[in-house]
Amino acid sequence: MLIELREVSLENFDQVVKLKLPKGAKRNLASNVYSIATSKYFPIYQPRAIYCDSLVVGFLMYTSLSNFQKPNNYLIFRFMIDYRQQRKGIGRLALLKAIEEIRQIENAEKVIVNYDPGNEIAKHFYKKLGFIEVGLDENNEMVAEMTL
Ligand SMILES: CC(C)(COP(=O)(O)OP(=O)(O)OC[C@H]1O[C@@H](n2cnc3c(N)ncnc32)[C@H](O)[C@@H]1OP(=O)(O)O)[C@@H](O)C(=O)NCCC(=O)NCCS
Repeated sequence: MLIELREVSLENFDQVVKLKLPKGAKRNLASNVYSIATSKYFPIYQPRAIYCDSLVVGFLMYTSLSNFQKPNNYLIFRFMIDYRQQRKGIGRLALLKAIEEIRQIENAEKVIVNYDPGNEIAKHFYKKLGFIEVGLDENNEMVAEMTL
């Protein structure tokens, strides 16, 4: 299984916006089309298409938190794997790829993720990868971090 992150481009945009989550998960996450549109206004956001063996199966973005006076911290957000491709180990490998990409950035010290504290799947998922919960943010989202 070859997992790759590629920039969102004219070539894969259509496939990225057609990815779907299972019904219950939708309300927790902005759509991919909204995320890609936002990245055009915030060039600091880095949207990535997740490929598994040349098929687009997921999406994520990351950004430096320099706007929050934490330029060495990088937030991975809007992370999703299409519902037809979940539970195959793709999410785990894709997140590891994103962490590796961030690790190559000169000033990067920490990777941060946010999730609904009731999202037991995300909680288990991030914990297993080594993220440590540090508490709720001002939007009552759980914040978990990993030191690089
Ligand atoms: C979180 C998400 C990205 C995981 O992707 P995935 O490709 O299914 O994950 P993996 O197959 O690599 O699984 C990794 C771990 O998560 C667990 N997991 C994934 N889906 C699960 C589910 N539906 N129920 C229980 N555990 C689940 C797996 O059990 C696995 O742990 P294990 O090795 O102990 O079995 C995916 O479930 C998703 O897109 N969820 C909706 C959006 C979301 O919640 N994003 C994260 C917060 S923004």
